[in-house]
Amino acid sequence: MSARKVCVITGSSSGIGAATARLYASRGWDVVVNFSRDPAPAEAVAAACRALGAAALVVKADIASDADCRRLAAAVQAHFGRADVLVNNAGTTKFVPLKDLDGLEAEDFQAICNVNVVGTFQMTRALAPMLKLQAGAGVVNVSSVASMMGRGSSIAYMASKGAINAMTFGLARALGPEIRVNAVAPGLVETPWLKNGLGERYAMYRADYAERAALEDVCSPEDIAETCWYLGASAAKTTGEVLLVDAGFRLTKA
Ligand SMILES: NC(=O)c1ccc[n+]([C@@H]2O[C@H](COP(=O)([O-])OP(=O)(O)OC[C@H]3O[C@@H](n4cnc5c(N)ncnc54)[C@H](OP(=O)(O)O)[C@@H]3O)[C@@H](O)[C@H]2O)c1
Repeated sequence: MSARKVCVITGSSSGIGAATARLYASRGWDVVVNFSRDPAPAEAVAAACRALGAAALVVKADIASDADCRRLAAAVQAHFGRADVLVNNAGTTKFVPLKDLDGLEAEDFQAICNVNVVGTFQMTRALAPMLKLQAGAGVVNVSSVASMMGRGSSIAYMASKGAINAMTFGLARALGPEIRVNAVAPGLVETPWLKNGLGERYAMYRADYAERAALEDVCSPEDIAETCWYLGASAAKTTGEVLLVDAGFRLTKA
């Protein structure tokens, strides 16, 4: 078994997941980098982690597939022999304006929930036996401010993130006392996610967000990675918590 602690981060070839992998690597942990489509960015993140002194394993797995989740867990067991933290970060959405109820089909809900909800559950279930063996183990689910505000890329996405919050409470009870389970709910984070999803509307959306937020700012992937570190590797007495990190957007300025 590896002497160093190991963090498994789903969807870590880009954005928040990539920043989280780099942060854990910079603090003396080994990391597992996961993606479902394009291997090149995942290999680049792993190379950056190795340059920071970490061992990094790259595993292709679609978290919507239970077989893939179990294969990912088996690869972690074979390579490192341990897992200390799981960050359930991989997610998906469809950008549909709020009032366009006809823009969302049942298949859209199912596709989004298959990744965001079922995938988060399956990945946690697959890794739980390994996590249980490590003192202070933690799971961090990446939710969204969309789960609390009725704003976001689509109603299906908001619903899926609300389900992640509820699942965080249930998993915290189910996996205690050995494993802590918490969630971070980010506001606008500067990653390819919104830039790709909103296209030319992104600049206006970002400016409007920063205008409304109490801290007059948006979040960086590193801001959310720092919370994934806090909830995963520290926060010894915190479980079943959903921590909002949104630069004060939900408050809005007075
Ligand atoms: N950006 C924001 O403003 C924001 C705000 C609140 C919450 N979030 C949440 O933060 C998380 C990460 O978002 P991000 O902004 O960092 O997005 P991103 O830059 O687009 O990265 C998404 C990552 O997830 C991977 N992925 C997608 N579907 C997957 C699947 N089925 N199985 C495994 N990996 C998969 C992608 O790689 P492949 O494409 O190769 O699979 C990529 O590595 C998501 O859960 C999102 O809902 C983001």
